[in-house]
Amino acid sequence: MIKASVIGGTGYAGQELIRILMRHPEVEIVTVGSRSYAGQKFSDVYANYENLTDLICEAANIQELAEQSDVIFLAMPHGIASKMVTDEILQQTKIIDLGADFRLKDIDIYEDWYKTEHFNQPLLKEAVYGLCELHRDDIKKAQLISNPGCYTTCSILSLAPLVKNNLIDVNSIIIDAKSGVTGAGRSAILTSMYSECNESIKAYKIGEHRHTPEIEQELGLLSDSCFNLLFTPHLVPMNRGILALSYATLTKSITQTEIRDLYKAFYQDEYFVRLTGDRMPETRWVKGTNFCDIGVKLDERTNHVVVVGAIDNLIKGAAGQAVQNMNIAFELDEKTGIDFIADFPI
Ligand SMILES: NC(=O)c1ccc[n+]([C@@H]2O[C@H](COP(=O)([O-])OP(=O)(O)OC[C@H]3O[C@@H](n4cnc5c(N)ncnc54)[C@H](OP(=O)(O)O)[C@@H]3O)[C@@H](O)[C@H]2O)c1
Repeated sequence: MIKASVIGGTGYAGQELIRILMRHPEVEIVTVGSRSYAGQKFSDVYANYENLTDLICEAANIQELAEQSDVIFLAMPHGIASKMVTDEILQQTKIIDLGADFRLKDIDIYEDWYKTEHFNQPLLKEAVYGLCELHRDDIKKAQLISNPGCYTTCSILSLAPLVKNNLIDVNSIIIDAKSGVTGAGRSAILTSMYSECNESIKAYKIGEHRHTPEIEQELGLLSDSCFNLLFTPHLVPMNRGILALSYATLTKSITQTEIRDLYKAFYQDEYFVRLTGDRMPETRWVKGTNFCDIGVKLDERTNHVVVVGAIDNLIKGAAGQAVQNMNIAFELDEKTGIDFIADFPI
């Protein structure tokens, strides 16, 4: 059995990890780390665990956990992991970080966008960006896996086949994305309150959302060039889900059938990427699952391609992909413990 611990286990992403790991046939949970709930039963924090587990939240010490765990998941706000993770810890255990500290390879870009100091530049080189469909071979060998952001997972998977095949002008990319409210985490934030966000949709952080350089970095690797793209997130009044619409100008003449065939070829071996054909993706069909649904449509009149991607921000966008990374890193069937079908109707 793989011994797994979660630090930040009482947040939304951490709770999803616990839920998935508890039912994972190859995993035994060692510790749920939480400072605010230390000493309390996990089932007192989340009542859906009543009678199902005796886990007690603990103020976790990563050094001690590294000795007891084969893998430690970090599900904390950014800025903490770069202080916590050291070479010594990585010699003892694998780390899968759901935060942003090890996603960007350029420390200046990290510090500029996150407005905070990074404390371990050498580990940026060592960390593998854990977008499973694109970096599987590196994930197999990695000790430090940096789980991608939620908007970024959806956007990169949507655009990767176009960029890789040089089909679009990369400087023309516009991503218009919508997220449910759990994307902001469980802590009390005014803008996430029911009465503040229900019955309304708003754009936020236009041109300055922190997922922008992450998308640019990863798509840049596929195109062998640096470029800037426009990314606009929106908050929508639903609990979970991301819908990302990506627009770009075509550089080659291509038919609808050819472009869909190209996506099929790119993702032919990827269980967790589903191409939806004429039906465009909707968040309800991926809710509670590790799937990323993608639909692609040409607008010949304007010479644009429009790609629609949908994921569950807490599963493929966070905990599900983190477990997919663990499965790859421990040479298990990638689907183990995360092969969910969306609950419907819900
Ligand atoms: N929500 C999403 O959809 C989503 C998607 C992808 C990635 N992520 C990333 O996953 C991470 C967790 O997000 P979340 O949505 O689960 O946030 P959250 O609900 O606010 O939970 C944050 C967790 O971190 C712990 N924590 C806070 N400050 C800490 C500190 N200084 N040291 C140790 N633990 C600390 C908190 O527990 P205690 O205060 O009890 O220790 C809590 O369990 C973030 O980096 C986020 O960007 C989230």
